[in-house]
This record gives sequence, structure tokens and C-alpha cells, in this order.
Amino acid sequence: MRLIRGASTGVPLFILSAADAIFGFDPPSRRGYISPAMQAPTIKLDVPITPEWKQVSKNWGHPFHPMCSYMAMFPPQIPHYFIQRFTRPGDRVLDPFSGRGTTPTQACVEGRIGIANDLNPLAYVLSKAKVDPPKEADVRDRLAHLAAAYRENPGSLPDTSGDIGAVFHPETLRQLLFLKGTLSGSREDTFIKATIVGILHGKYRRSGCDSIYLSIDMPNTFSMSPGYIRRYVKKKGLVYLALDVFEKTGRRLQRLFRRGAPPSRGRAFQQDVRQLHEWVEPESIRLVVSSPPYLKVVKYGLYNWIRLWFLGVPHEEVDRALDDAHALEAYLVFMQETVEQLERLLAPGGVCALVIGDVAQNRQAPLNLALEVWEAVRGHSNLRLLDLVADPIADHRKVTKIWNHTRGRATAIDRIMVLCKGDRPAVDQLPVSWDS
Ligand SMILES: C[S@@+](CC[C@H](N)C(=O)[O-])C[C@H]1O[C@@H](n2cnc3c(N)ncnc32)[C@H](O)[C@@H]1O
Repeated sequence: MRLIRGASTGVPLFILSAADAIFGFDPPSRRGYISPAMQAPTIKLDVPITPEWKQVSKNWGHPFHPMCSYMAMFPPQIPHYFIQRFTRPGDRVLDPFSGRGTTPTQACVEGRIGIANDLNPLAYVLSKAKVDPPKEADVRDRLAHLAAAYRENPGSLPDTSGDIGAVFHPETLRQLLFLKGTLSGSREDTFIKATIVGILHGKYRRSGCDSIYLSIDMPNTFSMSPGYIRRYVKKKGLVYLALDVFEKTGRRLQRLFRRGAPPSRGRAFQQDVRQLHEWVEPESIRLVVSSPPYLKVVKYGLYNWIRLWFLGVPHEEVDRALDDAHALEAYLVFMQETVEQLERLLAPGGVCALVIGDVAQNRQAPLNLALEVWEAVRGHSNLRLLDLVADPIADHRKVTKIWNHTRGRATAIDRIMVLCKGDRPAVDQLPVSWDS
């Protein structure tokens, strides 16, 4: 393994802020430049990559995208830029850490074949639902059938003294328990599961009529702890509402399908990224757009315990399996293995764009993790650096900000490390169109 510089060796790498030290900002376009130390294995594109996705409305994109929020998700505008520029219709586009499925879904929307992979069962269900959706009529029939079966035999009201009882009215919980025990892995049922996890918890309305969510008042992005929820409910005098899961799911389906399903179908896997070559044909991928797990920022299991409960997976199991709790050195080894794997899967001339956020450090300037990753992988891969694009994120958009400034270690700059297999991208077409 290559020795890591900076934080791991104790040598202060970043004296100024990471952005100032590593990237000189060109004010009009805010593009970063590549520091001289990194120039050896780079290729220069005729037209550099600029974060023009920043100019596009935040609501841009197919209605499948906002089906369920997912921590550290990126907007569909980012994969769209790379898909338009570096692929043609019919090409395969992979996200090995697909999360809510943003990249593969966008690929399917644009007539490419979206390949999703994520080890987190929640991410797998969301990605699979979007890249391999059922017909709207079939999913509606299935929901009606489930509602009828429930009405015939609803079972007794559940005991609400356990953790999950803090989240729902007993009647709502009874419906959820029925669905949890009945839904299978079929295309229709996977879509219903993904739709329900998207509305499982969120903002509360006392009337119960205008909220799409099924829970007592709580954030949509992540699950509060059961103890906190009970204390909050007591303090605010909140009332649990009996909400009809079947009715709310039906309304949600209508919104999700309002523009129909994407024209192409893709595939979803639930594998460790290091095993992907066993599932995805080597040299078959034209483009990768992904954001690897952060450095100890997000606990996908714990912070999604309610959604994972519905999917029947203990959250501790998820946190044990995922690579999101590494210290820096182990993380960089993980990234070396990831990039080796992606090199294997990319077709010649294929492009790989990895979104990597800066990470806050105690009393030091933020760690430019993208640069650390590049330093760690450059000697282990033949992929060449096309660009390192700085992508400042609006403060309110950073998911970890919801806790406060200290608990979220993600910072306000993402960087996109763009790599290429070979001397130049096989496809490089401009301009990128932003028509919906
Ligand atoms: C930053 S998130 C990706 C978010 C995604 N870009 C989106 O828009 O929703 C990183 C993902 O890596 C997944 N992950 C962590 N370790 C993994 C591994 N070893 N193999 C595959 N996926 C893994 C996590 O479950 C998480 O969904």
C-alpha cells in the first residue's frame, strides 16, 4: 500500500483551507485546476468539465428520483451531465454505490442501461424499484388486492410498547405489519416497498390530510431514536393519527408515475463493490458516476432504523456490513480496491466520475479527501485523471447539517474526481442539453 500523506502521517498538508491550497478558483466558473504535483498521469479535455448542473432548477428530473430521500444522495443533474457528455443511447452506466439509485435511474431516463449496486438493502430496494419498475396498472392492481386481503383479515391491534410503537398510531402500525409480512420480492411488491419506505416518516400535519407521511412528526431524511421520539411527542403534546397506508401509497404511486416509467430498463445488485466483477461483465461499462461512502460521516443502518425495520433487516447488520466507518488509512485501501474494480469493469475509453466530499477535522482545515484518494489510487491503477472539479454545495443541501455544525463531518465542498480508461474518452459530445 502507498503511504498516505497528510492527516495519517501527522504532517500538516493543508495550511490554508483545502480549497485555497489545492484549487485556485476561477471566479466566473468556479472551476478548480489540478496542482502541478498531480499532473503526470492526467489527460487534458478539449473542453473542461464545469459544474453547469448548478444552474439548473433543484426540481429538475424524473418523478422517480424523489421517491425516498437518502443520506448523502446527489442530485440527478450530476449524472445527467456525465451521461449526456460521455455516453450514447444503449450504453451501460454503473453506480457501484447507488444509494437511492440516482445514476442508474437517470441513465434509464436517457435511454441508457442503468446498472445499480449497493450493499445496503434499503438502497437495493430503492434502486431496483426505479431501474426495473412494474407497469403502473399492475402495481395498482396489486395494491388493491393487498388492501382487500387486509380488510378481510386485519389481525389484532399491535402492542405499541416497543421501539416501533413510538412512531405510528396502532392502526397504521397494524397495516404496516400486514404489508411487511406479505410483500414479496416481485417487481410490483418491490415498487410498493420502495414507495412505502419513502413515505414512512416525515413532517406531520395535525389534520393528517395534507401530509404524505405515515408517522408522528419527525424528519424525513433520517430516523430519530425511539427515546427521543417519545420525549418529543410528550413535550409537544403530539397526537398519533390513524393514517391509511393503502390510501397514502395509492396517492404516492399516482405522483411517481405522472410522467410514466423511464424508457429503458436496468439491473440492480446487492453486492460488495469488490465482488462486482462476478456480476457485471468486465469491460462492459461506458460510464461510472458514483459517490463512495464517506469517511465515518453517515451510519446508514442506525439512521434508517425505521425503514430497515419495514424491510425486515436489523440496522446493526447493515452498519456492520458497510464500508462507511473506516478511519482514513483503511478508507484509502478500500478506495484503491474500488478503483481497481471499476477499472476492470470499464470499457476502453470509459469514464469514471467519483463525487467525494471534503471532511471536517478537529481544529484543522477540512480534509480534501478526493485528493487523498487520488494520491492513494494513482500508483495502483492505469486509469488517468481527466479532471478534479470543485463543486461547492449550498449549505442547506448538506444532509449532515441537520444535526448541527459539529456532528456532521461532511463539509460544504464536494469534488468530482474524473478518471478515464485509456488516452481519451470514447465519447465526448457537447453541449449538454438541460431540456427535461
Ligand atoms: C454516498 S452513498 C451513495 C449515494 C448515492 N449517490 C445517491 O445519490 O443516493 C454511499 C453508498 O455506499 C454504500 N456502500 C458502503 N459500503 C459498500 C460496499 N462495500 N459495497 C457496496 N456499497 C457500499 C452505502 O450503502 C451507501 O448507499
